Amino acid sequence: MNNIIIGDCLLELKKIPDESIDLIFADPPYWMRVDGILKRPEGTEYQGCNDEWDNKFTTNEDYNKFTTLWLSECKRILKKNGSIWVIGGMQCIYSIGAIMQNLGFWFINDVIWQKTNPTPNFLGTRLNNAHETLIWATKTTKSKYTFNYKTAKELNNDIVNFEKGERRQLGSIWKIPVCSGNERLKKENGEKLHSTQKPESLLYRIIAISSKLGDTVLDPFGGTLTTAAMSKKLGRNYISIEQKKEYVDYGLIRLENIVFEDSKIAHAEFDKKPQKVTLQEMIEKGFLQDNENFYLKNTLLIAQLQKNGKLLYANNEIDMHSLAAKLKNSKSERLNGYNFWEVERNGIRVSIDTIRQNYREAIS
Ligand SMILES: C[S@@+](CC[C@H](N)C(=O)[O-])C[C@H]1O[C@@H](n2cnc3c(N)ncnc32)[C@H](O)[C@@H]1O
Repeated sequence: MNNIIIGDCLLELKKIPDESIDLIFADPPYWMRVDGILKRPEGTEYQGCNDEWDNKFTTNEDYNKFTTLWLSECKRILKKNGSIWVIGGMQCIYSIGAIMQNLGFWFINDVIWQKTNPTPNFLGTRLNNAHETLIWATKTTKSKYTFNYKTAKELNNDIVNFEKGERRQLGSIWKIPVCSGNERLKKENGEKLHSTQKPESLLYRIIAISSKLGDTVLDPFGGTLTTAAMSKKLGRNYISIEQKKEYVDYGLIRLENIVFEDSKIAHAEFDKKPQKVTLQEMIEKGFLQDNENFYLKNTLLIAQLQKNGKLLYANNEIDMHSLAAKLKNSKSERLNGYNFWEVERNGIRVSIDTIRQNYREAIS
């Protein structure tokens, strides 16, 4: 299932069957149009992205044709309910976005990756370019794509009280440092291997929130195999295509040292819907008693639980959700009864929701 391919993605993508891939992450050549050597103010050379693979295009048409070709193949191999992430800087992301829309991809979000340690604009001639843009899109408007919403909340650690347990919806601006330190792959002579190696935390987040355990993740521009490495860590299958053997050679060593981390994030545990249970079932299993008192929270009102799971109140049998709404004079016909009713255990009122949690734990 896993495959690292050395080759041209325009040819290699053609060999992949239709609708066989769950998630694509693409970090294509940016076509930075870098002219000459970049220098720091003190005169030393700065190794930006001036690679042959990035500067091989001559005109916009040339770049757009290349983009159309690889994106068309990605659309073909993406499953009906799959999704694709494409990352790029200002030089390319606008034309890529237009081509994606022309090909019928449906945009879900664009995400700003805000670099917390960006390279300075050495000459001070323009703003410091401190971000890249990611487009997240589905194959069609109807795709039922994977979004692990609660997992995304768990990964949103950029909030003040995260350590104290506060969780918030993940937004579309992600603050993540540029890949550096030990994570940055180096050649034997100490030079950095790749000019645009992406941070692992960026790929980890993308894969964790938009795919499932066992899914197949494809990267047509594999580089140092960051996508494959994070797919492996999260228990996804991976296919990466990279034309430059040197990147793959080092990437494979990196990949070998990555192990699957069997975590709640990998399993998207936070997004699993709890098992449906009924009051009747809880009576049968002894977690609730037939005819016991149900107390409406913060009131003196009492009803009796019946064997069939309904409540007896004023000689009427009624479900606990409708009765809670009625007794609370709610505008809606039903409230979530689990949050409104309590029973007594050892002289203390305990919410039905807690009883349900205990029951779920006991049967899981
Ligand atoms: C922006 S880099 C990707 C970096 C990668 N995300 C990482 O974290 O290392 C783009 C990569 O695409 C590769 N590439 C460019 N054109 C290609 C093609 N036609 N087929 C396969 N790889 C290609 C380049 O060699 C380069 O490594």
